[in-house]
Amino acid sequence: MPAVSGLLAEGLRRLGSAAEARTLLGHAAGVEPSRLALLTEVADDAAGAYATLLERRAAGEPVQYLTGLAWFRTVEVAVAPGVFIPRPETEVMTGWAIDRLVGLPGEPVVVELCAGSGAISAAIAAERPGCRQYAVELSTAACRLAERNLAGTGVALAEGDMADAFPDLDGTVDLVIANPPYIPLEAWEHVAADVRTHEPELALFSGADGLDALKVVARVAARLLRPGGWVCAEHAEVQSESVVGVFAGAGAFTQVADHTDYNDRPRYVTAVRATKLAG
Ligand SMILES: C[S@@+](CC[C@H](N)C(=O)[O-])C[C@H]1O[C@@H](n2cnc3c(N)ncnc32)[C@H](O)[C@@H]1O
Repeated sequence: MPAVSGLLAEGLRRLGSAAEARTLLGHAAGVEPSRLALLTEVADDAAGAYATLLERRAAGEPVQYLTGLAWFRTVEVAVAPGVFIPRPETEVMTGWAIDRLVGLPGEPVVVELCAGSGAISAAIAAERPGCRQYAVELSTAACRLAERNLAGTGVALAEGDMADAFPDLDGTVDLVIANPPYIPLEAWEHVAADVRTHEPELALFSGADGLDALKVVARVAARLLRPGGWVCAEHAEVQSESVVGVFAGAGAFTQVADHTDYNDRPRYVTAVRATKLAG
């Protein structure tokens, strides 16, 4: 039976990442990566499965698609090819939203637009239980996965276009959160080849300047939120000024502010629904 140390050394050599090698060997051997240190050897079939995973990872497949799992804040979610992999950048915005909700009494109403795998909604349900939560997603593949990830959380998931989502909630929602597609189509060639090849276009690109979906988020948030309710929406690091402009120009928000992510890069806009609409 092959030695764990040799397999990990081979993984590091192939991938240049000890963490990825451990994740893939743990997955192949059916043990938590942290428990590999307790093993000296793995079975031949696990070593064979690991060799295949190394091959696929070296060819550019994201680790999360290979293991079928991703961590997002306090929750582990299922991921699959065809569905966007939740990113660490989004954890900071989600934390901002959870902080607002923790400060509200009772059963705040929360809507997530562009839910993907459902990671944001799952984290909110775990970290601020007792909200009345809704989520909408356009892609059927993502919806099927979000159904799994949100099972037992009470989040009401709708498959469809965010533009028309939840008209019954108009004017009643406490917080709207969204990580929409925001990469400009013209930036296609600057997107990492692994991302372009493996993650769905619907999750990544949104019009020539990347702002199409964010404009819809601003419109839908203005419709759904009660006066004083919050919206937060993720954007690309170069879109800080333009996205603040979208929300400030919507005639529906006050306190429009931009925030940074873990790497101190501009990453999400927040705003408060005004009591009176401009114009
Ligand atoms: C960047 S991904 C974010 C997914 C998830 N919220 C996350 O952070 O991991 C954007 C998601 O928006 C979805 N989407 C794109 N256009 C949409 C629309 N008009 N209405 C609802 N969802 C949409 C995509 O299918 C994709 O799942």
